Amino acid sequence: MLKRYFSSTREIPPSAKTPRHIAIIMDGNGRWAKKRLLPRVAGHAQGVERVRDIVQACIERNVEYLTLFAFSSENWRRPEEEVSRLMELFVMALEREVGKMHRNGVNLKVVGDLSRFDQRLRDLITQGELKTAGNQRITLTVCANYGGRWDILQAANRWLQDHPGGELSEAALTPYLSMPYAPEPDLFIRTGGEQRISNFLLWQLAYSELYFTESLWPDFDAQALDLAIASFQKRERRFGRTSEQLVER
Ligand code: FPP
Repeated sequence: MLKRYFSSTREIPPSAKTPRHIAIIMDGNGRWAKKRLLPRVAGHAQGVERVRDIVQACIERNVEYLTLFAFSSENWRRPEEEVSRLMELFVMALEREVGKMHRNGVNLKVVGDLSRFDQRLRDLITQGELKTAGNQRITLTVCANYGGRWDILQAANRWLQDHPGGELSEAALTPYLSMPYAPEPDLFIRTGGEQRISNFLLWQLAYSELYFTESLWPDFDAQALDLAIASFQKRERRFGRTSEQLVER
């Protein structure tokens, strides 16, 4: 039975000092490598190291859900060489890290249109998800060949198949989205200096606090994460209400 989560546009979610769910666009790997005269893929490899650190840091801070944008539906437009090296990195990361994740209580989920990935990668994803399915310290969702518009469309199409001729509502759609098991992100972080959402979780970010940092992803460490969380803690989350209403509560 799925837990029931609040939809930020229909109800006011409970507030918490620590974000329960953090979603991250890990940008800046290429520039990190370029600054060091290294190939771009060296930046991605260093990025994998940061993923490990940030998962651990989130566990220590009692963050319950961490969602990472690893590969967007638009990333196929990159040079073929970079795409294939990224795929190799995903395979290596899954081979090396799933055991450690399991020991650390990580529940791994991979969401996106996985049909374009090769069978070996898909098998590793399935095995990793199955092995870690019972873990509860943190849910790590890796978005791969993911796009926010893709997610909304796939949800709408699957709902229509189940309810031919029905009228779609927000509440009806939510369970069909890619992450029905997670509350909406409290905090969205983008590293690498750009200030955009880039077709990440378009539906789920409706009321998330947005945090942008110049820090390149391979430099984003636990201290940088704490700065983002501190910024989140200073925000007044009104969900459409006035400041006065918050004081009255
Ligand atoms: C964006 O940096 C980063 C990516 C497109 C890939 C992100 C992948 C990883 C961090 C490694 C794998 C992750 C997991 C979960 C195993 P960019 O290349 O756009 O950097 P740039 O803007 O400096 O060029």
